[in-house]
Parts: sequence; C-alpha cells; structure tokens
Amino acid sequence: MPGQRLTGKRALVTAAGQGIGRASALAMAAAGAKVFATDINAETLSTIRDANHENIEIFELDARSDDSVAAGIAQANPDILFNCAGFVHHGTVLDATDDEWDFAFDLNVKSMWRTIRAALPGMVERRSGSIINMSSACSSVIGAPNRFIYGTTKAAVIGLTKSVAVDYVATGVRCNCICPGTVESPSWHDRVDALGKQLGSKEEALKQFVSRQPMGRVATAEEIAALVVYLASDESAFTTGHPHIIDGGWSGQ
Ligand SMILES: NC(=O)c1ccc[n+]([C@@H]2O[C@H](COP(=O)([O-])OP(=O)(O)OC[C@H]3O[C@@H](n4cnc5c(N)ncnc54)[C@H](O)[C@@H]3O)[C@@H](O)[C@H]2O)c1
Repeated sequence: MPGQRLTGKRALVTAAGQGIGRASALAMAAAGAKVFATDINAETLSTIRDANHENIEIFELDARSDDSVAAGIAQANPDILFNCAGFVHHGTVLDATDDEWDFAFDLNVKSMWRTIRAALPGMVERRSGSIINMSSACSSVIGAPNRFIYGTTKAAVIGLTKSVAVDYVATGVRCNCICPGTVESPSWHDRVDALGKQLGSKEEALKQFVSRQPMGRVATAEEIAALVVYLASDESAFTTGHPHIIDGGWSGQ
C-alpha cells in the first residue's frame, strides 16, 4: 500500500534539489519514509517545501566536503542512503582535462565513499540499511559518445557498489546502484541546449538524444524514483551488489 513501504525508515538523499534526486526524495516521503533532502543549492532545495510534505526535512549538504557530509549523516542517521550527486562532462579522452577528471571523480565517486563511511557504522549497528548509488547506463554497461570522464566515473561507481555489498552482505546492509539511460532533468535540458548550439538547432540536438533511446523517448525522473523506492524498501531484501539498469532498452539491443 502506498505510504507503507518505507514507514519507519529514515532516508538521506544527496542532490535532491532537482531531477532524479528531487523526484526520489518526494517518492520516498510518499512511501512513508522520513526523508532528509539535501543539496548544495539551497534555492532549488527550498522548492521541495512547496510540495509541503510533512515527512521531508531539507538542509544544505556538499557531497564534496567531509565536514558537511559528516554533519549531515549525523543529523539524519539514515537507514536509506541515496547517493545521487553527479556531474556530466562532455568530450572524448583527448578533450578531457586533469581538472575535469579530478572534479568528476571527487563528485561522482569519492562523495559516495564519504557518505558511506559516515552512514555505514550506524546501519551495521542496527543490522539494517540500504545504500543506493547513482551510476548510469553509460558506464561499464555501455559506452556513449563524448562521455569519456563521465562513463569512467560511473563504471567506478559499479565497482564501489559491489565492494561495499560484498564486505557487508552478512550485516543486514545492502548496497546497489542504478544505471539509468537518458532522463529528463534540468541538467539534461542544459546539455540539449549546449549540443543545440553546436549543431545550430535545438531540435536536432533533441533528436540525437532521443534517437539513442529505442523507446523513442527519454525517461522521467519519476520512473527512476520508482526503482529507488523499490531498492530502498524491504521488497528488495534479497538484492545486493548489483547495477540495476533502467534505460528504456538502450543497452539491451
Ligand atoms: N539525467 C540523466 O540523463 C541521467 C542519466 C543517468 C544518470 N544520471 C545521474 O543522476 C544524478 C542526478 O542527475 P539529474 O540529471 O537528475 O540531476 P541534475 O544534474 O539536473 O541536478 C544535479 C544536482 O546535483 C547538485 N549538486 C551538484 N554538486 C553537488 C554537491 N557537491 N553536493 C551536493 N549536491 C550537488 C546540484 O545542485 C543539482 O541539484 C547524477 O549523478 C547523474 O549523473 C543522470
């Protein structure tokens, strides 16, 4: 029954100000969890208040800062940790810069190490926890054009997930990751606009993004949030250590 799947659970979400993180925070709250929705962007985060959900508390958390993560995890003491923060760099191996590489590995991968090492001891003590990491279909699952740094970091997320899962499988703590195809979100719209400028037409850019999705459309953030709720809930109690692909058939061809 809606409202009961996550009753009694506390969930912390990074990057909940917009996109998949926001949709997942709202979906988990609707499923009964007490949700701590966090982001570095206080302005977008505050729009979650408009949803006026009594189960949602918001606060700023910078996933790139050890201190910010430690304080946030101490406040939330989560049973469910959804590591959603990430950034998409454009370009090939020859376009990439050292700074982009370091930034991406810090935000897309090391941030998960930060949150997990802070949240895991409490989960182990309670012998219950679900960690959900944001990977991508563009990772070790599939190569996408001009996603050298991004795909490399998201493949690392799969390795990180498996490692945590295997080390803690007997403690009641599960760790999975999700691998979406293209999802409509504010940053995706920015990427469409940027490609549109290169191609001289936003329509052409949209066509390129949509054409790689065999269903002829991109996903909604809510479709990804439904998988997050499943992995957060006890319905997935026998599932750990896996990348869960939700890509509209992109990698299944
Ligand atoms: N949109 C897609 O097509 C798609 C596909 C697969 C995977 N993903 C992954 O999903 C995640 C969310 O992407 P999206 O497109 O839904 O959202 P988005 O890119 O539009 O929003 C990202 C959010 O991350 C926040 N953020 C940035 N730096 C942060 C930091 N240091 N600490 C905390 N928050 C920070 C931003 O403020 C913003 O609210 C990312 O990890 C992304 O790689 C997205």
